[in-house]
Amino acid sequence: MIYWLTQTLGDIPDNEDWLGTRERTLKDALRIPKRRADWLLGRWTGKHVAAAYLQETAMLEQSLSGHEGNSGMDWSQRAVRCDDLVQINLSGVGMPTVLSEIEILAASDGAPQVFLRDQPAPVTISISHSNGIGFCCAASQNHAIGCDLEKIEPRSPAFIADFFTAAEMTSVQAASVGDQALLATLIWSAKESALKALRTGLRLDTRCIEVECHSYQRPTGWMNVSVCGHNQASQFQGRWRCWNGFVQTVVKIFVAPD
Ligand SMILES: CC(C)(COP(=O)(O)OP(=O)(O)OC[C@H]1O[C@@H](n2cnc3c(N)ncnc32)[C@H](O)[C@@H]1OP(=O)(O)O)[C@@H](O)C(=O)NCCC(=O)NCCS
Repeated sequence: MIYWLTQTLGDIPDNEDWLGTRERTLKDALRIPKRRADWLLGRWTGKHVAAAYLQETAMLEQSLSGHEGNSGMDWSQRAVRCDDLVQINLSGVGMPTVLSEIEILAASDGAPQVFLRDQPAPVTISISHSNGIGFCCAASQNHAIGCDLEKIEPRSPAFIADFFTAAEMTSVQAASVGDQALLATLIWSAKESALKALRTGLRLDTRCIEVECHSYQRPTGWMNVSVCGHNQASQFQGRWRCWNGFVQTVVKIFVAPD
């Protein structure tokens, strides 16, 4: 299962009660307002989705027992489940008491890591933010996941030539003019998701990942997309959807536990 949530800048409370001590220090060091806002949005969205995952797997209440009681989260009844994706519904939930106990810190490669009461938490998350919207996913530690949110807009031929494989370039060129922006955005977003799941980000050549999508007719629900590494060793399960002029993608791959 992959748990997911979108939030906007307007959802973030004015206070910092929901941030942990280390997060407050990190936030204060971010001098550029946009970067600080994006960072906060990622934390706000990511903490809810991590808390929901941990609560669903009973790890949250377990960890909190003997302390202040429960997490204050009550989203489960209204979650929207679609195959292996679970959308968290926060409306009317209020701010869970547990949020400041959960910290999301960057590992040395930049990937987000979740801590619960200063201990690494048994959950994997991925964060994306774009145009004031945060999109985060959480799953079991036995999976590497990556998610991405991209505004649908045309990509220049130079961009496509630089970052897409020959097959991806051909598929964009073969699409109708009206579909080219959507398809190029979908391919780019799925690549970014895969590069996050691999924890390399754009340090890896984007042409090492190939995205294949057979149907991209602006679906309302989640669709499958094939995403694989160039050596065929990394075959991701990919899902995507169109939403309010954006493409959302999420990929996951099983990784053996340590
Ligand atoms: C990961 C990357 C592809 C995301 O870029 P993007 O599309 O512009 O941004 P998104 O909003 O979709 O994703 C940003 C989130 O990706 C996550 N991320 C960053 N590096 C990551 C990595 N190596 N693996 C997995 N996730 C990563 C972070 O959580 C980040 O949000 P946060 O910093 O607010 O916590 C890009 O940041 C990258 O390639 N980073 C690695 C290379 C690098 O470090 N370059 C120098 C940057 S100063």
